[in-house]
Order: sequence, then C-alpha cells, then structure tokens
Amino acid sequence: MTTSTDVAVIGAGAAGMMAAATAGQRGRRVVLIDHYKDLGEKIRISGGGRCNFTNIHATHKDFLSRNPDFCRSALARYTPRHFVALVDQYRIAHHEKTLGQLFCDESAKQIIAMLKAECDEGRVTWMRPCGVSAVAKTASGYRIDTEQGAIECASVIVATGGLTVPKIGATPFAYKLAEQFGLAIVPPKPALVPLAMDDKWLARYGELSGASLEVEITCGGGKFREAMLFTHRGLSGPAVLQASSYWQMQEARDPLHVNLLPGTDAAAFLAENRRSPATLGALIAERWPARFIQAWCEEHEATRPIVQLAERKVEELARALNDWKLQPTGTLGYNKAEVTLGGVDTRGLSSKTMEAREVPGLYFIGEAVDVTGHLGGFNFQWAWASGRAAGEAA
Ligand code: FDA
Repeated sequence: MTTSTDVAVIGAGAAGMMAAATAGQRGRRVVLIDHYKDLGEKIRISGGGRCNFTNIHATHKDFLSRNPDFCRSALARYTPRHFVALVDQYRIAHHEKTLGQLFCDESAKQIIAMLKAECDEGRVTWMRPCGVSAVAKTASGYRIDTEQGAIECASVIVATGGLTVPKIGATPFAYKLAEQFGLAIVPPKPALVPLAMDDKWLARYGELSGASLEVEITCGGGKFREAMLFTHRGLSGPAVLQASSYWQMQEARDPLHVNLLPGTDAAAFLAENRRSPATLGALIAERWPARFIQAWCEEHEATRPIVQLAERKVEELARALNDWKLQPTGTLGYNKAEVTLGGVDTRGLSSKTMEAREVPGLYFIGEAVDVTGHLGGFNFQWAWASGRAAGEAA
C-alpha cells in the first residue's frame, strides 16, 4: 500500500513531534513515523522524570557547533517564552529549579501528552512502531519505504536524534541519510557525559564515590561553576558534564583545569594564613567533604600545619588549589551521555528552515544536527526551535 502525503517526519521525539504539529496545524498533511515502541521515551526519562523542558536564559551562546551562529535564527524565532506559553496553555505546573532551568512539577509524561495533543490537533497520521528501510528522491518529491508500506511525499523532515542511549531507540539513521544525499557529517561524539580517570587516580579518589564539591572547571573555552561529583569510574556532576562537551570538542586531549576554591585567590588565602598552626585541611574544612580533604592533602603532601610548610610548597599548593589539572582517559560513552556532539554539518542546511541547501524538500532538525546545548534545558529548546522552523517551512 502507498500513502500519499505532503510531509513525512521521521522520528517522533521532541523535535519531530514539534515539527509534525507545526506543519499539521498549518494545514499540511503529515505522517509521523517512529520505529520505537514507546512514544517520546527520551522526554520521559529526561530531567530525572520531570523534564527540564527549557531554559529561560537560552541564547545562541549556550550551544556548541562548528558554526556557532547557525542556531541563532531558529532560537530567536521560537524562544523559551513561546514554549512556556504552550506549557501554560496545557496547565502543566512547572518551576525553576536553578539557573533558569524549568522543570515540570509532576511528570515529563505531561510534555509528551501535550506534544501528542498538538500533533492530533494538526491531524497528524501516526505510524509507530514502524521501521524505515529506504528514502529515495522521486520526480515529485520523496518515496519512503517502511514496514507499513511506502509513503510518497513532497518533503521529508529527519528528526531521528543522535546516538545517545541506543537501548531506547537511538540510531545513526540521520547521518546515513545525510550522507546518502551528499551532506557532510561532523563526527559524532558523546557529550554531557561522565569522564573516566585512570587506575592510579581511582586508587586515591575512587573511594570518594558519591561525594561532591562546588568547583569551577575550565576546558577548551568553556567555564562552569557548579558541582563536581566523584564516581567509582571517575568524575560526573553538572560541572564535569558541561566541561565534557568542550573536552570532546578539542583535537588534543588537554586536561581539565579545576579551581577547587572558586572565587578565592588561593595564594592570597595561604599568605593570610602563613603563620597558622592549622593544616590546610582544617582551614578549608567547611568547603570540602572531609574524605576529599584527606585524599587531596595526602596527594599534595599538605598534611602538616601551614606554618611548617616550605615557601615553595605553599606556592605549589596555591597553584594546585586554583588549577588542579585532571587528565581524563575518556568518557563513559553513549549509554551514559545526555547528548551527541556533532551530526549533520550545518554548512549544508538553511539556518532559517533547516532544509538541505542542495536537496530541496529534505530537512534535518534536533539533535541530529551539529548543534549541541549546554546542560540545563538547552537541548530541548533547540529541538523545539528547529522543529518549529522546519514545520513552518515544509
Ligand atoms: P530524540 O532522541 O528525542 O528523538 C529521536 C526519535 O527518533 C526517537 O523517538 C527514536 O525512536 C526515533 N528514531 C531513531 N532512529 C530511528 C529510525 N531509524 N527510524 C525511525 N525512528 C527512529 N535535554 C534537555 O534539554 N533537558 C533535559 O532535562 C534533558 N535530560 C536528558 C536526560 C537523558 C537521560 C538523556 C539521554 C537526554 C536528556 N536531554 C535533556 C537531551 C534531550 O533528550 C535530547 O537533546 C532531545 O531529546 C533531542 O530531541 P530529538 O527529537 O532531536 O531526538
């Protein structure tokens, strides 16, 4: 059986449902296809089940891409305020947790239900679960071969996301399709991901698993003051997840620069306490967990009273306190990552519509594209904004 429609959207995640609803509500006939058994699974598990659905401070500066300006247009036309207005229209209670991050009070399932209702209002035809085997150009548009028959359509919007969490349906479909139609791919990598440390480091700090402290991490142009969490494999927590994206962006695997006393000039602090009979650990007991103080001070041979330390040792400690260099061995991979860095190269796409410049009628949106947000609701905002842009154009 062959279905004829105006727009086929492949991938019914955040971006795909937004695009399908937008195109459908414009009066376009839309078919929305997804191969996974559950709808919007990544939305359901997001934000600890409460979905951090946007960030009220989102601007193009919160995104990583080979072309940092690409996301500007779509983000400016569909802002966090627009999405919050939609959430309010559905009476979904929400709150700001921290740093502009908006979460549902109750459940991420409310966002899925809202997007589904928006698609239904646009009379979107659902095809799920339904695998796609091929997409080909025809004289009048595209032909999509699926498990439930063929679809003839004028436009195809590809919203199949990145490679994160393969067990809930992630595939490289978007990258393969982009390559089939001659578009370039920025090599994908796991991002917003915990980092692994070597055995020697873990022998000292691995036992701190579960402990966290506020730090400022600088890495490859990114700087984040948030919590760093010790795990049995290495490091996690918001500051490390944020830094991981920048660490993954660099060619060389430079170390992370961790400021253990953010806001404090360690050299001045130690100079003030130069005659103190207390140990460094005792002086900073309120700022760090006790187990970390012990492990760090042992590693840095700083267990004696400060007054007894040689001048060179004090200088060395001051440097290490404000710039503790940590060399990860790698990341914990796509199963533990929140997003995929890289993807369809934005040079091949229109920033206004997300349409492939050289392939009329073919669009790429959401995480499949080389636009990756910081932690904190930015990735969903990109999904909504890019989905909206394509849905208005297709
Ligand atoms: P998404 O991955 O949502 O959807 C892609 C869809 O395509 C899926 O339904 C999939 O089944 C389908 N698909 C894939 N291959 C296919 C194929 N070959 N054929 C048919 N269908 C196919 N972001 C944020 O802003 N706030 C947050 O709180 C969180 N929290 C969070 C937690 C966790 C654990 C993860 C893993 C991720 C987050 N994120 C997040 C990131 C956010 O979930 C992500 O950026 C968006 O879901 C991306 O939306 P997309 O629609 O592009 O892809």
